Amino acid sequence: MDKKRILTGDRPTGKLHLGHYVGSLKNRVELQDKYDCFFIIADLHMLTTKPTKEDIESIAVNSRELVLDYLACGIDPSKSVIYLQSAVHEVYEMNLFFEMLVTVPRLQRIPSIKDMAKSANLSELPFGLLGYPILQTADILMPRANLVPVGKDNESHIELTREIAKRFNTLYEEIFPLPDSLIGDVPSLIGTDGSAKMSKSLGNAIMLSDTAKEVEKKVAGMYTDPARVRADIPGKVEGNPVFIYHDAFNPNLEEVADLKARYTQGKVGDVEVKQKLAKALNSFLDPIRDKRSGYEAQKGLVEEILFDGTMRMREEAAITLNLMKKAMGLAGAWKKIARKAEEYKKSKAKNS
Ligand code: TRP
Repeated sequence: MDKKRILTGDRPTGKLHLGHYVGSLKNRVELQDKYDCFFIIADLHMLTTKPTKEDIESIAVNSRELVLDYLACGIDPSKSVIYLQSAVHEVYEMNLFFEMLVTVPRLQRIPSIKDMAKSANLSELPFGLLGYPILQTADILMPRANLVPVGKDNESHIELTREIAKRFNTLYEEIFPLPDSLIGDVPSLIGTDGSAKMSKSLGNAIMLSDTAKEVEKKVAGMYTDPARVRADIPGKVEGNPVFIYHDAFNPNLEEVADLKARYTQGKVGDVEVKQKLAKALNSFLDPIRDKRSGYEAQKGLVEEILFDGTMRMREEAAITLNLMKKAMGLAGAWKKIARKAEEYKKSKAKNS
């Protein structure tokens, strides 16, 4: 029996961080044997907020970094397809068909779209940004995916994907599964500043490709319990980013429990808690760094992986678009016209 399918991915806006890992990457790596996986480098989605020439010129470099992050975390290119969205032209067509099945108020109710506009400093919504989750629907339904591992902020997009798939299936023909989202253990990891979700643009992120020194420095500067001005004052563990990271990344549960106990009693300094966190993070990141530099050293390998994956995706895309056009009857209209035009041309030639 054919395996079920996963489709997910990221916009090529830079390297990935720890929040991406616990939110989605970990799930992707763990599920790649159970599912056939397709990973999208969503450069068309990037254009919804970053459409300038400079943005576009950065796609090649940023895609490379993204693929390196995937491979470093354990995505196996011999099992999974990694592809560049803009190079699969079927997605533009699918997007247009799906646009007919969604209303504007439905899109306006999706909170992440307003958030994206805000963080891109856009006072009014570009049409393409409003349509962001429709384009995402085209991505997901292109290989007829069943499961979409994403961060919490994308959950509402997958909900819309299900609605669109259902609408297509009832209007025309049952060709799409109704995909589920899969949110990671830590759906939204707090940043090192303790004030917002981890995000590269906010400067509160620890990148998967940071050096050990960079990690130590970032952890040393992390926000903890602000009320705790001395080590002998009892501190708060809940909501404290240092302990949130310990829980997410330190496999030594005994050490974490001991640190928490002493912290709440005022019997441990921030320095010790942070040093142990930096150590845990670095032992988590060390194998990722090794793998990254291994792939990086082989010039052209990343590009080959992305090229081959894109060619593979094109096959899948052609199949699905064909199914869609058949189901809609659009292919039939054109065929009829072409046949009658052909006949007429022939009859004209005979009569002249
Ligand atoms: N929306 C995703 C992000 O936040 C990127 C993306 C584009 C995506 N198409 C997708 C994710 C399809 C999952 C499935 O960057």
